[in-house]
Amino acid sequence: MGFKHAAFESINQALSVFGIRLTRITRDFEEYPLSETIQQWLFRDLAARADGWLKDQHCFEAVSFDTEAWVKKFCLSYLKSPFREQSGGSRFNNLLWLSLLSRASAPTVIIDSGTFKGASAWALSLGAPNAEVWSFDIDLSQVKWKVPGVRYREQDWAESDLGERLGSRTLIYFDDHVDQARRLLEAHERGVGLAIFDDDFPVFPALQMAHGGNSFPKIEFVLSDELRCEKEIAWTTGHRTFRWPVDVAYLDRARDVIAVSERLPDTSSITGVHQTPYRVVKMRPAS
Ligand SMILES: C[S@@+](CC[C@H](N)C(=O)[O-])C[C@H]1O[C@@H](n2cnc3c(N)ncnc32)[C@H](O)[C@@H]1O
Repeated sequence: MGFKHAAFESINQALSVFGIRLTRITRDFEEYPLSETIQQWLFRDLAARADGWLKDQHCFEAVSFDTEAWVKKFCLSYLKSPFREQSGGSRFNNLLWLSLLSRASAPTVIIDSGTFKGASAWALSLGAPNAEVWSFDIDLSQVKWKVPGVRYREQDWAESDLGERLGSRTLIYFDDHVDQARRLLEAHERGVGLAIFDDDFPVFPALQMAHGGNSFPKIEFVLSDELRCEKEIAWTTGHRTFRWPVDVAYLDRARDVIAVSERLPDTSSITGVHQTPYRVVKMRPAS
């Protein structure tokens, strides 16, 4: 055992009484094949899964392009990007999907809600270099890299005055830990055509990222008939108890603005990066 490793272990042993553990920061694709043939298998398999979904989905009319060439181009850009550290931001699979969705849906305006280090704004703009891209966060102090041309704003997107710019060819991505029914209704009011949601879980796994209930309801809750029979969701976190009352009328209002909703296919068995795939929502047109 090396000196560094032994010191690290002693620190962790001391910290364990507080329930804390230091872990090494790891990066996606830290282990990467040298063989171009094996790299090609990754691009080929990801492209096949993406093609299958793009062909069968009902959320938007997809522009056709060489998916395998795109996956390769994205992957090479990703390897050089500053977004590979696993520290709370989007990871490889989801970033690839953001680039594929912006490429395939050809939006004129893109909104990224929840900038954090800037990874999602980067991936979305890569797929649609001609689109107007806005990235919103209530705290932009963590941004690692700003993409030239992307407009970064330190505010909630719903407080911005984008007005006339938005419409059926607007793509919006929500990764901001905010109530997803609220986000659906805000997007619908502004005539947005297509929405992507991160962290959309059914009730049980959603409890792990409830943020005290502030991130509820998820789209899964909005779609659930079973949940409409419950009065509240109550759960414990350590010694604390939280309660979230089920407001059926609110869930119904949010469900009414969804025209089509689909979950993306899981690509974690291809990449070894484990993430919950996004929810994509085609919005009903605003009346
Ligand atoms: C998981 S991070 C976003 C990750 C980022 N999209 C990426 O691809 O790496 C969530 C971010 O949402 C931001 N946030 C919290 N409330 C928000 C709000 N009301 N509007 C916009 N962003 C918000 C947080 O400050 C945080 O930076």
